[in-house]
Amino acid sequence: MGSPPYKVKSVAVIGAGAAGAACAAALKAEECFETIKVFERRSGAGGTWIYDPDPEPLPLSPGSLPPVLDPPIALPNGPFPQRLPRPKRQQRFEKTPIYDLLTTNVPDIAMSFTDLSFAYGPFAPHYIPRQYIENYFSHHRSDGYLVLDTTVEDVSLVDRTSRRWRLTLKKTDGDHEIWWQDEFDALIIANGHYSIPFIPAVDGLADFIASFPGRVEHSKTYRSPGRYAGERVLVIGNSSSGHDVITQLRESGVCKPPIYVSRRSRSRWDGEKPPPGVAWKPIIRRYHAETGDVEFVDGTRLANVGRIIYCTGYRASFPFWNAKTNGRPLFDYEKDLLINNFQHTFLTDFPTLGIVGMPRVLTFRSFEYQAIALARLWSNRAAHALPDSAEQRKWLERRADLTRQQRRRFHVIDWDTGETMEWFRYLFELSGLPVLEGIGRCPPTLGAATRWAIEHVKKYPEHEKDEGAEGWEMVNEKDTLWFI
Ligand SMILES: Cc1cc2nc3c(=O)[nH]c(=O)nc-3n(C[C@H](O)[C@H](O)[C@H](O)COP(=O)(O)OP(=O)(O)OC[C@H]3O[C@@H](n4cnc5c(N)ncnc54)[C@H](O)[C@@H]3O)c2cc1C
Ligand SMILES: NC(=O)c1ccc[n+]([C@@H]2O[C@H](COP(=O)([O-])OP(=O)(O)OC[C@H]3O[C@@H](n4cnc5c(N)ncnc54)[C@H](OP(=O)(O)O)[C@@H]3O)[C@@H](O)[C@H]2O)c1
Repeated sequence: MGSPPYKVKSVAVIGAGAAGAACAAALKAEECFETIKVFERRSGAGGTWIYDPDPEPLPLSPGSLPPVLDPPIALPNGPFPQRLPRPKRQQRFEKTPIYDLLTTNVPDIAMSFTDLSFAYGPFAPHYIPRQYIENYFSHHRSDGYLVLDTTVEDVSLVDRTSRRWRLTLKKTDGDHEIWWQDEFDALIIANGHYSIPFIPAVDGLADFIASFPGRVEHSKTYRSPGRYAGERVLVIGNSSSGHDVITQLRESGVCKPPIYVSRRSRSRWDGEKPPPGVAWKPIIRRYHAETGDVEFVDGTRLANVGRIIYCTGYRASFPFWNAKTNGRPLFDYEKDLLINNFQHTFLTDFPTLGIVGMPRVLTFRSFEYQAIALARLWSNRAAHALPDSAEQRKWLERRADLTRQQRRRFHVIDWDTGETMEWFRYLFELSGLPVLEGIGRCPPTLGAATRWAIEHVKKYPEHEKDEGAEGWEMVNEKDTLWFI
């Protein structure tokens, strides 16, 4: 095993979100894997789209990254299986960031998988993608692969020569935990990357958090405007979460006006001046724990801020990856990339490991391309082999150089420059066609209607592009475009 021909008979998938759903369908369609298991720590499929009405307060640790915030759990010594008393709970960030009024922000024709439509769109409430993902497993009869309420706590190579993977798994049973192990020829990591909130390090912030408990939070725990009634609110970050939180607070009218927004850069929705009821601030220089003041880099200060919401995004976490047994870490937090990845999907030094869902680009659709490419590769039906290690490394170096020069994140793939199409094309052409007998999933096309929707159907107007421009549509109502 290792390079083609692959001898993969059993495959594990970590995570039953949209990426896991795409993997289960693609693997099943090949009709050649004897065992497929999708391990999911929640009690149902849906991933990010499962709504948790009651987000528990999360630890706030400015500047900390996942290896510190979300470290591996101590594994029991074998032999397995074992039933052990449940120890004191370690924060695992399982709950999702879904808030009450969240709707999707990608038109459904482009967000859904190609073989099943969303119930409606173009921008659906958050429960539609959750229902959809659950249903997608049943639609493909891959629901039988789900192993729910089960956390993958450790991923280790069985040994370096066989390239098989040993998973250490945990289930909770009342006040006990059940631990066991299972081995697979190949593994797909589809664990999402919006679980661990990121809060930047700012002078005085840690002391401020300690002095004013409950005043600072991350958008992961934001649910609805009502909780901010009568407060002076400061929002940090103006990307999707920031923009939504600001819009919802502003429209609700419950907070003390104006809502302050600390921006590092102009977002694609920002015009020349802030919308009514919003005041823009630059980034924060320092928090003053003794007075409660917030000081910005332009020297201005805000006093009496009742609530501060960090909408500063998330960082990927892989606490189950055993760097010691596997010989290296999986992720480089300094360079912000998957080590030795090729095309954001394959791992040059681990041919029986795949990862689906890392790039920030069209989500479900890209998971479909990635999942089909991996399934096709491991079933030995891919149109061609992956390039050799040297070529794969060259690809990584080229992309790392490019994204460094352009001050972009490695796994954020541009739409406007054609980068997304180029990436999809690679996976599409690698996958090739299913066999004549109909075994295997056809890699999807990205047709004109879908591309048009991506470029023209917007949830919010994008000021730089859309002001005065012709040919874009703002769609708020269901079913207003014929193809959606
Ligand atoms: C607030 C918010 C809004 C978003 N809105 C949109 C949108 O409108 N449109 C869009 O296209 N995308 C949106 N996204 C991105 C969204 O995350 C993707 O659409 C997609 O759902 C990601 O799917 P995934 O399967 O990669 O990850 P997830 O949905 O996160 O699924 C990963 C699964 O893995 C499980 N898991 C993790 N670790 C383990 C483990 N050790 N053992 C077992 N199970 C594990 C998790 O419980 C989870 O169920 C949004 C994200 C956020 C945070
Ligand atoms: N369906 C929806 O409507 C919806 C709603 C919310 C989220 N989402 C999705 O959820 C994912 C996460 O979105 P997100 O908005 O939470 O995170 P994000 O897109 O990663 O944005 C992070 C924001 O924080 C700012 N930031 C990061 N580090 C900072 C620092 N050190 N100092 C100051 N500002 C800093 C960034 O500024 P810069 O721009 O300068 O980097 C950016 O504005 C995305 O995929 C998004 O599409 C979707």
